[in-house]
Amino acid sequence: MVQPLIDPFNRKIEYVRLSVTDRCNLRCFYCLPKRFRDFEEPANWLSFDEVERVIGAFGELGVRRVRITGGEPLTRKNLPHLVQRVAALPAIEDLSLSTNAVNLDRQAQALRRAGVSRINVSLDSLKPARFAAITGGHLDKVFKGLMAAKAAGFAPIKINMVAMKDVNDDEFEDMVDFCIDHGFTLRFIETMPVGDTGREAAGHYLDLQQVKQRLARRFELIPGVMPGGGPARYFQVKGSELRIGFITPISQHFCETCNRVRLSADGTLYLCLGQEHSVALRPLLRDGINDDELKDVLVKALALKPERHEFREKPHQVVRFMAMTGG
Ligand code: 5AD
Ligand code: SF4
Repeated sequence: MVQPLIDPFNRKIEYVRLSVTDRCNLRCFYCLPKRFRDFEEPANWLSFDEVERVIGAFGELGVRRVRITGGEPLTRKNLPHLVQRVAALPAIEDLSLSTNAVNLDRQAQALRRAGVSRINVSLDSLKPARFAAITGGHLDKVFKGLMAAKAAGFAPIKINMVAMKDVNDDEFEDMVDFCIDHGFTLRFIETMPVGDTGREAAGHYLDLQQVKQRLARRFELIPGVMPGGGPARYFQVKGSELRIGFITPISQHFCETCNRVRLSADGTLYLCLGQEHSVALRPLLRDGINDDELKDVLVKALALKPERHEFREKPHQVVRFMAMTGG
């Protein structure tokens, strides 16, 4: 009998966000400091065997979805092999990936074949100079990655755009057109005060309710749905295939429907993106915990899951960078 993972607020947890590295080949100003180097030692990363064990245990407890994230997950060596092992776990029905797409052109096929079905790509600007200013990277590589993803047959491909006042707020309509042209799904995200970098970016915060109203002047938006199990509220653009999602952690938080936990690359289980409640699994795994004990630890960990983030009330409290646990 599968023992469902239910937290103290009666939320069923069926989704794990699996960070396979905290490293990244970009430096988005709202995520990682420019010269940041203080990454986790590789010796402290969970091995593929350890990841498989933890996700396997979660699967036996009712988890059905896994999203692979980072840092930038494609910087983890042999990622397709890890993907294949997670995809082979009988409980896992939905395996997705979040990437900046910088190296996706070379890996898209292998990842698709290994079992990733859906991908999310971060893309905040369609202007090369601005993209470079935000991320430190080359936009043409991301375009190449996106085209390779299309060719490899990922569906859907979602573009994640962090909406920022005075940074990219003149490009929302252009991004809608871009996504219509390419058959991508578009999601706007509100900036979150995660880490010192995130708090800096919070100065560019835009309420997505207003962005939606602005888009509604040019595009007819009808309420819609989208597979994925996440918190985005979707609208379909009439006369096109495009769906636009709004992810509003600040203006309308969605914690009451939270269905996820996060496993960082060093094997720490974080119960909430916006809080520090955690359980260190790596020492237990390396001390030889057995599968039943591991499941017991996971069930007990859920008792620590906080009711909600407090980004508004306590914007200074989260110390870790977004790259430690992914978005
Ligand atoms: N606020 C909002 N979104 C963020 N991301 C990274 N840092 C922040 C932040 N402080 C986004 C990335 C990516 C996703 C994984 O999280 O742009 O799309
Ligand atoms: Fe890298 Fe993503 Fe952070 Fe940008 S937001 S620096 S792509 S981990």
